[in-house]
Amino acid sequence: MLDLTGKNALVTGIANNRSIAWGIAQQLHKAGANLGITYLPDERGRMEKKVAELTEPLTPSLFLPCNVQDDEQIKATFDRVKQKWGKLDSLIHCLAFANRDDLTGNFSDTSRQGFNTALEISAYSLVQLAQAAKPLMVDGGSIVTLTYIGGVRVVPNYNVMGIAKAALEMNVRYLASELGPQNIRVNGVSAGPIRTLASSAVGGILDMIHHVEAVAPLRRTVTQLEVGNTAAFLCSDLASGVTGQIIYVDAGYGIMGM
Ligand SMILES: NC(=O)c1ccc[n+]([C@@H]2O[C@H](COP(=O)([O-])OP(=O)(O)OC[C@H]3O[C@@H](n4cnc5c(N)ncnc54)[C@H](O)[C@@H]3O)[C@@H](O)[C@H]2O)c1
Repeated sequence: MLDLTGKNALVTGIANNRSIAWGIAQQLHKAGANLGITYLPDERGRMEKKVAELTEPLTPSLFLPCNVQDDEQIKATFDRVKQKWGKLDSLIHCLAFANRDDLTGNFSDTSRQGFNTALEISAYSLVQLAQAAKPLMVDGGSIVTLTYIGGVRVVPNYNVMGIAKAALEMNVRYLASELGPQNIRVNGVSAGPIRTLASSAVGGILDMIHHVEAVAPLRRTVTQLEVGNTAAFLCSDLASGVTGQIIYVDAGYGIMGM
């Protein structure tokens, strides 16, 4: 049985009730995990309020601001985790960003700044968070990130985010190799396209979803909760032998040649 009782799980990337991280947080909670939630702070505190209200029913024991571009916030987040929990069992990395202009049109038009920003927030952040989590995963642990098929094949308009996902997937393998001897497992979930705040920035996202609905073996795309189930499995002892993998939760779309 999938049981996360007694496990401390830190979940990043909840922006609203469409976020994949929200689907993951619900399934971790359902399996009995003790949750910590981080959010991307903004000047007016709107995100804090929105995410606090949304996640309240999951009774998180930590609720912290964490912009991955801010080293101080990352340090403060993991200092609080150490202080409050003593140890960390699971880390969910469920965030990404690229300039909207870079998610449409010609890939060759990507600017240096746009490239760096996408790679820093969407790929380097996993390294940063793993670095901070490593000393707290004293009983071993599980790190799960979210990726997309646009990191291994060309998907129209995904552009620089595809490069970031390719880097992210390779981060998974290098981190899994390094952290395995400490029994820390690192895996990626490659989700099918879902309508969220982040995906709405990708040009033609609805066309992508309709294409998947037409050709995926299950003739549909997936839900946030289905992705959440796989993430919860990866955080559990049921997945004790799984590391360095990219698991597709995409209604089978990825196997199709046409
Ligand atoms: N929606 C899809 O179709 C889809 C498919 C496969 C993978 N993914 C991946 O799932 C993850 C979650 O995206 P989503 O679709 O749920 O969208 P979302 O907009 O709900 O989530 C993206 C999150 O990234 C956070 N974020 C952005 N910049 C940040 C920063 N500097 N520091 C901290 N957090 C930051 C946002 O606050 C937001 O919570 C992303 O990695 C995305 O690439 C999404």
